[in-house]
Amino acid sequence: MNIQKITSCIIMILIMSCSTQNIISNQNKNEYKIFSPDKTLELNITLDDGLLNYSLKKNNQVIIDPSLLGIKSDVFDLTSKIKIKKVDQKSTNQTWEQVWGEQKTIIDNNNEIALTIVTDNNDLEMTTRFKLFNDGLGFRYEIEEQNDIKNYNILDEITEFNFNEDSPSWWIPAYAYRRYEFLYANTKISEISREKFSDLVEYLNPDDFIGPEAVQTPFTTQRSDGITIAIHEANLTNYSSMTLESTGTKNMKCDLIPWSDGVKVRVNKNLISPWRTIIVGNSPSEIAMSTLTLNLNEPNVLENTDWIKPGKYIGLWWEMIGTNESSWGSGPHHGAKTERVLKYLDFGSKYNFDGVLVEGWNTGWDDNWCCTGEGGDFDFYHTHPDFDNKIITEYAKNKNIRLVGHHETGSQIANYESQLDSAFAYCNKNNIRVVKTGYVNDGVQNIKRIDENGVVHKEWHHGQFMVEHFRKVLETAAKYNVSIVVHEPIKDTGLRRTYPNMLSREGARGQEFNGFMPKDWNNKPNHTTILPFTRLISSPMDYTPGIFNLKDYRYNSNDDRTINKEHHIPSTIAKELALYVVIYAPMQMAADLPANYEGHPAFNFILDVPTDWEYSYVLNGEIGEYITTVRKDINSEDWYLGSITNENGRELEIDFSFLNPNKTYNATIYKDPLNGGWENKPEEIIIEEISNISSKQNYKIILPSGGGQAIHFSPNN
Ligand code: NOJ
Ligand code: CA
Repeated sequence: MNIQKITSCIIMILIMSCSTQNIISNQNKNEYKIFSPDKTLELNITLDDGLLNYSLKKNNQVIIDPSLLGIKSDVFDLTSKIKIKKVDQKSTNQTWEQVWGEQKTIIDNNNEIALTIVTDNNDLEMTTRFKLFNDGLGFRYEIEEQNDIKNYNILDEITEFNFNEDSPSWWIPAYAYRRYEFLYANTKISEISREKFSDLVEYLNPDDFIGPEAVQTPFTTQRSDGITIAIHEANLTNYSSMTLESTGTKNMKCDLIPWSDGVKVRVNKNLISPWRTIIVGNSPSEIAMSTLTLNLNEPNVLENTDWIKPGKYIGLWWEMIGTNESSWGSGPHHGAKTERVLKYLDFGSKYNFDGVLVEGWNTGWDDNWCCTGEGGDFDFYHTHPDFDNKIITEYAKNKNIRLVGHHETGSQIANYESQLDSAFAYCNKNNIRVVKTGYVNDGVQNIKRIDENGVVHKEWHHGQFMVEHFRKVLETAAKYNVSIVVHEPIKDTGLRRTYPNMLSREGARGQEFNGFMPKDWNNKPNHTTILPFTRLISSPMDYTPGIFNLKDYRYNSNDDRTINKEHHIPSTIAKELALYVVIYAPMQMAADLPANYEGHPAFNFILDVPTDWEYSYVLNGEIGEYITTVRKDINSEDWYLGSITNENGRELEIDFSFLNPNKTYNATIYKDPLNGGWENKPEEIIIEEISNISSKQNYKIILPSGGGQAIHFSPNN
């Protein structure tokens, strides 16, 4: 420690504890600085005229300009006239292991600074805690119970994210009718608006423009020097979701989704906000590999996790949402009929799948359940008469396979909560260890909440009411040893670390849009090249890849079995395979019909590819353009590669240095024909074997328009 720093510490000793060498502080100006362990990130905190600000540098370049911090409630105002009472600092360098995941071991290495601040009249204390990792910054607000202040309402969190550059960004609108299920817009930060979204991506009805002009997180932007930044949050607990309010400039501000009465967060005793996170990398590939969100969550709280199993599943599902030959509800085309379910169990068991999802197994589907939030009541532990649970469960047991349960709630929260225990007890009793939940409801502020007096309120899908609901479901499921895959979820903020039964989520436009939307409305070829740098930063996704029948697959209706020519999925079989590596999901679906897989040589890749990994690396990638990801199986020495492109064909040079240098490998390559691609020959695939590959070799991946490539490497020795 140099003389200047020692002097500064002695001077400040009465008002702060200056414990380690990373802080540089200046008492008069109230400035504090810490570095990330690798010194590439520099955080500066200043208290200027009673206002608390932070700013961030990467490689000595300012990337976040001074940005305000603070919280205002109905009983205190911690946004101005602030004084610093105490400063603590700490460094952490440890590792921890995931129950399942993209990598087994995670390094938690960060430098931390915590400022205890008080208001002008010293009546309330708040700690603002910052953790600086090599891959970004997390900070949060902590207010312990004090001065008899117990129940209060947060009216505003003024946290700002003032970017230094008005760079291109990828975003979906908040306060919009279809939750997170939109294609991404790509504009400069200053250009973000719902109108712009309507121009560029999808028309949003101006009558629905309630709530501020804001975007969902993770929100990603890439500077002209390549540095890529994603804003998100970690450990969203007892709080409402953060969206980013746009200001028509390069500055953004935290916007909390309110309750229906305008309150942002209801606090009961202590307040610990979620971590506000700024994930930073030199390139998009680096942010795609960030572990910051997981590091900012609490360790696993489940005593025993033996019952939590990653795996793969098929489903009696695409025949409803994709090919349109069956229905969820009763009638001649009802899919979930006993005989049909048994056939899926046969197929799943023959190919060693872990589960068979069956939708429409219960009652509630016949009563206009979709999509107004006003449907009839689903029942979660009584079966439809077509579905003979006794026969099916017995059959599945004998075939050593399980059903994947399904709870479509139609967003009827009170109805679901009233049955939660019975619903998960039913799963436990019937050998179901994974349940897919769902919250379809296409309205901007349309979640029905019934208060203690029976009065109905309409809440947002992402507000505190739903944050708490989703947690209740997760905890109840854990009580009955059930893991969940959530559709129409609240965004993930790394909770899978604390509750490893939180397997995956949809939370973006998934394959289903290719199923039911005609050509002009389905996912564009670039969609899956945007997801890894945006949505997937937050968590695994139940995208449901693996469609082989990409053209002429959909009937006009259940009754009219003529092909609807309006549907063509903008992908190729090789790209569908690559998605198993590019999009991580611990419970990964093979979404197409068994008939389209049986006997198809490309099916082998789906059968081989694991869902639990020892290592994962993104080798290259540009947002909205392409990405190549490699992962190593946790249970063997095998490696898998997935590479995909947008509508542009391209060549990517890679090397195999990720492979073990002491081994040689055989590679099975699944690729598109050179003149193929999503429009030309989407269903043609070339499967090639190459032997004696070593880590020293280079390789050229050739991808036609909208195509992909998947490789399975197995060691020879
Ligand atoms: C929407 C979900 O994303 C889809 O997977 C499901 O089949 C339907 N809702 C019905 O629950
Ligand atoms: Ca959905």
